[in-house]
Amino acid sequence: MSNKKRLFIRSWGCQMNVYDSGRMADLLAPLGYAPAEAPDGADMVILNTCHIREKATEKLFSELGRLRKLKEEKPGMMLAVAGCVAQAEGAEITARAPFVDIVMGPQSYHKLPEMVARISRSGGVAIETEFPVEEKFDHLPAEAAPQGVTGFLTIQEGCDKFCSFCVVPYTRGAEYSRPAAAILAEARRMAEQGTREITLLGQNVNAWHGDGAEGLAGLLRLLADIPGVERLRYTTSHPRDMDEALIAAHRDIPQVMPFLHLPVQSGSDRVLQAMNRGHTAEDYLRLVDRLRAARPDLALSTDIIAGHPGEREEDHQATLRLIEHVGFAQAFSFKYSPRPGTPAAAAAVAHVDEATKDRRLAEVQELLRAQQAHFNAGKAGTICDVLVTGPGRHAGQIAGRTPWLQPVHAFGSSTLVGRIIPVRIVAGHPNSLSGEIVEQEKDAA
Ligand code: SAH
Ligand code: SF4
Ligand code: F3S
Repeated sequence: MSNKKRLFIRSWGCQMNVYDSGRMADLLAPLGYAPAEAPDGADMVILNTCHIREKATEKLFSELGRLRKLKEEKPGMMLAVAGCVAQAEGAEITARAPFVDIVMGPQSYHKLPEMVARISRSGGVAIETEFPVEEKFDHLPAEAAPQGVTGFLTIQEGCDKFCSFCVVPYTRGAEYSRPAAAILAEARRMAEQGTREITLLGQNVNAWHGDGAEGLAGLLRLLADIPGVERLRYTTSHPRDMDEALIAAHRDIPQVMPFLHLPVQSGSDRVLQAMNRGHTAEDYLRLVDRLRAARPDLALSTDIIAGHPGEREEDHQATLRLIEHVGFAQAFSFKYSPRPGTPAAAAAVAHVDEATKDRRLAEVQELLRAQQAHFNAGKAGTICDVLVTGPGRHAGQIAGRTPWLQPVHAFGSSTLVGRIIPVRIVAGHPNSLSGEIVEQEKDAA
């Protein structure tokens, strides 16, 4: 009898959830679970949820409604809700969706095999929403499925910054840094499995202060020495934790890519203060200057929130001015969304009405889109080092990414996957580039 079981995981939210979903699959593999492409017919479905914005809970319940039907058709199917909604709304989930078997917060997924075994044996519901974050990392499986040419590695989790609008400190718990030795071991394994570009993850990745290296800059130095690790990135950084050593790392360590996601949220000092961000607009601009002095080709990305409670028209204009001033290569922008339990949601100041939030967000996005298009267009005619990540969308094409994280498409052989090759950029599009592989490389392939 085959004991192969099928596992479907759906992930919302940040890259840390993507990483966690991968580790959950690794943890369940020894129990005979292999990945499935769809929930239909799966033996286990995990919804790895995000609580950062908007009706996350409602979306979850409508998804659960659909899965309930699948579960009725296949009674043995196990259904788990993981991630930040599970952490924040565990009680509501078990009350409103009693057919869910497992509810587990982001710090509990290492207990998954044990929970699955227990439920298979004696039924019932398992709920795990504690915060033993060290334990989670201690229980990472030694075996892991390869992630591919590019991969994520979580080095830090949780947040102590308590920005007014944000649920992360409540869903992921206090800041925790993994020790360098564990990170290096995982990076070595990834490199052996063919990963060439590693993105270090953390809600406050540049606040990393684990044992065994002098801050994130020191850790990057150690990682850069691992054979096969050709590119390093890290995300998400807080402007307050961007120290001199880390700025210098962008100048001194060739593997550290010239691209940095550095959320600013607003360009108004009044709003930044209300957000509890701990820096001014001027501080941010000075930081950008120092980064660009260290690494002149550094491209910046950011996050912007439109319509934080108390944001006035002049604050919004200040945000547009800051964006103009910096010139971002890429960005994410969001309409402020009140999150239960956060200070901003309960603030006594006037909330911005929906129509105004929509309009301000549209203005921010228009500007950011234009900047991204300009940045991409600026690469046309240049030759970029492209890490080939896999086949392209069309037959005979390959896909890759530039040092600045732009997706590139070119005609070329799939034997190039995993290599960094020079590509002449022919055109810059709003979200990607198209190019031609420089001739001698094509022949060598
Ligand atoms: N740790 C990172 C961001 C984590 S959340 C940082 O400090 O910047 C990712 C992004 O979601 C945030 O940068 C913010 O722009 C956005 N975000 C978080 N909470 C939000 C809310 N309540 N409404 C709208 N956007 C929000
Ligand atoms: Fe949220 Fe602020 Fe922490 Fe980022 S720094 S995760 S926005 S509380
Ligand atoms: Fe979402 Fe939790 Fe990540 S709320 S953004 S999944 S930390």
